[in-house]
Amino acid sequence: MSHKKLRQGIIETCIEMNRSGLNQGTSGNVSHRIEGGMLVTPTSMAYERLKNDDIVEMAFDGTYDGKHRPSSEWRFHRDILKNRPDVNVVLHTHSIYCTTLATHERGIPAFHYMVAVAGGADIRCSPYACFGTQDLSNHALEALKDRTACLLGHHGLIVVADTFETALWRATEIETLAKMYVHALAIGEPPRLNDKEMAQVIEQMRRMSYGQSPDLDKVKDAPKPLSVKATPAVIAAPLKAEEKPAQAPAKPKAPAKAKAPAKVKAPAKAKAPAKAKVAVKPATVTMAPARKPKTVKAKAPRAAAAKAKAASVKKPAAAKSSVPKSPAPVTGSASFKSLVGAALSRRK
Ligand code: 13P
Repeated sequence: MSHKKLRQGIIETCIEMNRSGLNQGTSGNVSHRIEGGMLVTPTSMAYERLKNDDIVEMAFDGTYDGKHRPSSEWRFHRDILKNRPDVNVVLHTHSIYCTTLATHERGIPAFHYMVAVAGGADIRCSPYACFGTQDLSNHALEALKDRTACLLGHHGLIVVADTFETALWRATEIETLAKMYVHALAIGEPPRLNDKEMAQVIEQMRRMSYGQSPDLDKVKDAPKPLSVKATPAVIAAPLKAEEKPAQAPAKPKAPAKAKAPAKVKAPAKAKAPAKAKVAVKPATVTMAPARKPKTVKAKAPRAAAAKAKAASVKKPAAAKSSVPKSPAPVTGSASFKSLVGAALSRRK
């Protein structure tokens, strides 16, 4: 991708990060790998004012070129990109729930299977170090070992990914997990999934990313994809009269139907076009990010894209919902807060 596109991608990622509620103000920062270094957000600039040439180009040796100084966190961006060849994007936010946990120096344990979206059985929280320091960068690298996210003690969240799209998706999932965990703590420390269960989840996610739900239970129920040609037609074609439900053959239903002729029919025109289509396509469910920031191009080859279009198949519901418009704030009631406080202090 050209530098121009990467700069644009950084800006749009930052804007989406604030729009969705994952971040606020000028907190947070985003970088993308380039040959020998990175492009990174400038320090303390409002994201909505950023132009392409405000993004700073920095070499791994710490020299930079640009109109502004790089993010104060350039060290951890640089160190992560240098040490993690699997990573192209580093995204840092002060998202509310992750930061809430991080203020207690708590990571996110295996209280929910989705914790595996960070690559392991937990999401660590690094010890505190002052922002912008090499210590913070060292702690972050350690906490990110074999993971794609970590919390920073008394600070926020870091997510790493191969694309902007995945980084936003992952950050949203992790912020949601943090929110769930804070709420779960209100009624006590939730039980954890054990190592075996988490290993199964991790394997499931790994294999599902190929678009095939594996038959882990060996019950031979793996879904069979429709043939490429048949897919759009079969999905799109309305049922012919003679194919219609064996459900409502004749008898007792008939009078009932006759009773509500026109009115019942009307809503039925909202029949089930879309939903039926989604149901037919389980095999395409992936752990891929939910919602695309406008900048990110669909990577699907044209033929596949056209096929998807023809079939009007929407993204899986689960993935769709994964970027909330704006995470709701923590319940503010005194009793809620005291429950959470009591749960947190019991842990210490
Ligand atoms: P910058 O504006 O320097 O990127 O700092 C924001 C931040 O979140 C520091 O941790």
